[in-house]
Amino acid sequence: MCGIIGVTGGRAVTDVLLQGLERLEYRGYDSAGVVVQTGTELWRARAARGTSSLAELRRIVDGAPRPSAAGIGHTRWATHGHPTEANAHPHLDCSGRVAVVHNGIIENYRELAAKLAAGGHVFSSDTDTEVFAHLLEDELTGGASLAEAVRATLRDIRGAFAVAVVWAGEPGTLVAARRVSPLIVGVSDGEGSEDGPEAYVASDIPAILGRTRTLFAIDDDQVVELRPGVMRVRTLAGKAIEVPQLSVDYDLEAAEKGGFADFMSKEMHEQPRAVGDTLLGRLQGDGTLLLDELRIGPDELRQVERVLVVACGSSYHAGLVAKHAVEHWARLGCEVDIASEFRYRDPVLDERTLVIGVSQSGETIDTLQALREARQWGAKVLVVANVVDSSMAREADGVLYTHAGPEIGVAATKTHLAQIAALEVLALYLAQLRGGLSPADARLLLADLAGLPDLVQQALDRDADVARVAERFADVRDFFFLGRHVGLPVALEGALKLKEIAYVRAEGYPAGELKHGPIALIEPGTVVIAVATRTPVWEKMMANVAEVRSRGATVVLLANDGHDETAEQADEVLWVPETHPLFAPVVDVVPLQQFAYHVGRGRGLDVDRPRNLAKTVTVE
Ligand code: M6R
Repeated sequence: MCGIIGVTGGRAVTDVLLQGLERLEYRGYDSAGVVVQTGTELWRARAARGTSSLAELRRIVDGAPRPSAAGIGHTRWATHGHPTEANAHPHLDCSGRVAVVHNGIIENYRELAAKLAAGGHVFSSDTDTEVFAHLLEDELTGGASLAEAVRATLRDIRGAFAVAVVWAGEPGTLVAARRVSPLIVGVSDGEGSEDGPEAYVASDIPAILGRTRTLFAIDDDQVVELRPGVMRVRTLAGKAIEVPQLSVDYDLEAAEKGGFADFMSKEMHEQPRAVGDTLLGRLQGDGTLLLDELRIGPDELRQVERVLVVACGSSYHAGLVAKHAVEHWARLGCEVDIASEFRYRDPVLDERTLVIGVSQSGETIDTLQALREARQWGAKVLVVANVVDSSMAREADGVLYTHAGPEIGVAATKTHLAQIAALEVLALYLAQLRGGLSPADARLLLADLAGLPDLVQQALDRDADVARVAERFADVRDFFFLGRHVGLPVALEGALKLKEIAYVRAEGYPAGELKHGPIALIEPGTVVIAVATRTPVWEKMMANVAEVRSRGATVVLLANDGHDETAEQADEVLWVPETHPLFAPVVDVVPLQQFAYHVGRGRGLDVDRPRNLAKTVTVE
């Protein structure tokens, strides 16, 4: 996790760093820090105040303005070492002349630290990162340039990293490199800007998008040397290489709050557009689907005998919906795996297995590594991602983008809905290729799909009703979320949202499984939120609702508009418009997002930046 940024050139190094860190805060905010080169020295400022770290850092930096040739910055999500100021990046070597920011984990840092300590190096933090600064110190003392020192040092390092470094001995030089963790480079020739030429590195595009649109993605084991307006990339062995420029479709304005109280509510309100844009151009009037950008051709897809979805968190829940869609329409066996578990068993895969990685960021390390594993087994890998040119998108055989736009709030909302929409399209496309969908059925289904943005808007418009229900249960500390069929992933997602946004214990459970143990927890007053919209198992779901009601539970039911039979069994109803049962999760998740949002806000919490979380999880 963690976000890194670096800049060389221009007149506003600290401004560029702080603004970039603000945009990277979604990657962690346990602490924040910067180092800038002033003359032939480095100056460092750090703050470890949880969600106020960046504000505190800005206060320190603004209080000591100084002209700088280059600088690096970091926003941290703690892995090794407590979230203290001493552990905040940038980290320095013994001389204080080399500074490093790092995202990732250096797996062999204990071994390296022991060697360095034996050689006389003194450590001032508990982090894995600091070894990197001391290793560089040794190389630089031996006469290497900064870029040479980085290349030599990385050859000794095992693990995942994106690093950026500056050295007092080379003013205006910024060196960065990556292995596994993401790294973007930007270059500006300064034309039309008072700041003159600049160059930047960052963990993610929005951090530098306001400065330049000339962007490059750095690959594993590439080392980039930056001077104002100039980029040079070499392999670890020192071979010069060309890096292709990225195509960027981000609109920076879209990354701002746009009048909403927080990013989460803005992003929930953008859901109709996110779903609409994801469907756009993919549904044809004649009932066929057009996925010409997939990179995996129709013939290859026709060979597929089995589908496996790997993902984490909300993306995993989208995968659970996909299982229903793929099996029902494409008649292909489909399993869904939690990515962090997938790698550590012996999965059975071959070239006839289609492995679908679902990831908003396209950078989640568990999913990325699971997909790499799948490719090694010869499987075809297709990624459903939101971030264009993300690591997964670049490495996979094929990619299907969701077009939700940048999501800043840590909670997945609009990207989750867009993922389900994209996976439904993919399932129907596979069905179409396999001849399993009649043109008449396809036309009806595509019409239902096209109607989803409108239904999502209708669900959003009931926000005030959801807010009232959330207020009634504001003090409840334990919830059960129940669902069956495609209602189960909806229930799981509702529980996840409540946990992460409102810090309330919420158990998502298959309703039919309750009687095999967890029903023992139901007692008078237990609050159960059940997805009771019209799936093929509605009657069975209502039988499970009766089981908890008869034991005294207070029941909130998600019911389709006008379905009074459901409402009669509820203490509270969250109404949603009805659609095809397999598309229903796109609509049904909305009130559960709103519920978590209102409970979280009601408790005075920062819904955009929940504690202990980060938007993109790049550590195992
Ligand atoms: O970027 P990804 O979709 O791979 O992220 C996966 C999860 O980390 C993510 O969905 C997480 O569970 C969200 N915070 C949920 O709101």
